[in-house]
Amino acid sequence: MGTDMFTEVFATSRGAALDPWDAAAGAPGIVGMIAAAVLAPSPHNTQPWRFTAGPSWLDVYADVDRVMPTVDPYRRERTIALGAAVENAVVAAPAKGLRPTVTLLPHGPDSDLVARIDVTADHVELTPMAEAIAQRHTNRGPYRSDPVAPELLAELAALAEDGTSVRWVTEDGARCTLGDLLVDAAQAVVDDDAMSRDGYAWFRSTTAQADAHRDGLTVDGQGLAAPVRAVAKLVPPLTSRSITDANWVKQTRSVHTRTAAAYGIVLVDDPYRRADQLAGGRLAERIHLAATTHQLALQHMNQITERMDRDRHRGRPNKFQVRLSRVLGADAHRALCLFRVGWPVRPGKPTPRRAAHQVLTRES
Ligand SMILES: Cc1cc2nc3c(=O)[nH]c(=O)nc-3n(C[C@H](O)[C@H](O)[C@H](O)COP(=O)(O)O)c2cc1C
Repeated sequence: MGTDMFTEVFATSRGAALDPWDAAAGAPGIVGMIAAAVLAPSPHNTQPWRFTAGPSWLDVYADVDRVMPTVDPYRRERTIALGAAVENAVVAAPAKGLRPTVTLLPHGPDSDLVARIDVTADHVELTPMAEAIAQRHTNRGPYRSDPVAPELLAELAALAEDGTSVRWVTEDGARCTLGDLLVDAAQAVVDDDAMSRDGYAWFRSTTAQADAHRDGLTVDGQGLAAPVRAVAKLVPPLTSRSITDANWVKQTRSVHTRTAAAYGIVLVDDPYRRADQLAGGRLAERIHLAATTHQLALQHMNQITERMDRDRHRGRPNKFQVRLSRVLGADAHRALCLFRVGWPVRPGKPTPRRAAHQVLTRES
């Protein structure tokens, strides 16, 4: 095997699509805030954002073309991701010598403009949270069996503000019930042809595809051990839709749920209200950044709410809502998004990103 082949297959594919991870810390000013924002997580790495900027402000817009219509019919996940992007920009601002003031939805909930961030000059302040922006990754690999200390979970929960909160599920019985529900929801997603196609449209199975699109899910981001990753990259049929779907359900059953030390559920007053989705997305990202400063791994897992939204949208009986209520009681109606945490066996890996200049549509 030649060196290039070896690098392509065994190493994390380090194409141009990963450059934004190295660029964010050094990028100055408001462009530096955008460089931090683009490193935010998003459903299937759709990166549903665009930006405009002036000398003292940054506007964050939804990119309405970057959607998964059947997976996210109410744009809940897209808006959570936009909240995460806003949070990254805000957390990065002091490191760029800027003091941010955020106005969410300045033109109301139906506008594509989700936030205006006004900035004034301030002294430069480097914080561990800002440093964590380029180190944060979704970790889909196995987590170790040791629990996460209640004090650390309490510290993360204390990051909640603006009517949001996080509920932890740590007790064995509830964790198992929630795990079973996550596996069943994953199976229901792949059994739904439209949802399966919607998700797979964002799967990039080669480095060339990832570099061309600079978005989407990659083999490297799936948390697989190096030899399994290598085989998946070498044998293209192993990344077909049916096999990718089957592997996701299998990984959900045998790795994601089996090794979750705890689940976190972000609760808001109304999961269908834009302002709540943005605030909840900001909280989820704050928790992920703080977890990263502790080397604690995190994976968003939203197949339950995806199935709930799909059934609600089609006027079908909402059996996943009913089952979630058995675990969370009345909080099931306030559940915005869900994630697992734990101590990682392997570090998470960077995933493709479009650079700041590719999403900055106009500078006034
Ligand atoms: C709202 C939202 C929903 C997500 N849902 C899932 C999910 O159900 N399963 C999963 O493995 N990752 C999920 N993710 C993680 C994304 O796939 C991930 O952020 C994206 O691929 C980019 O990778 P990164 O977070 O490592 O930068 C979600 C992220 C967001 C913001």
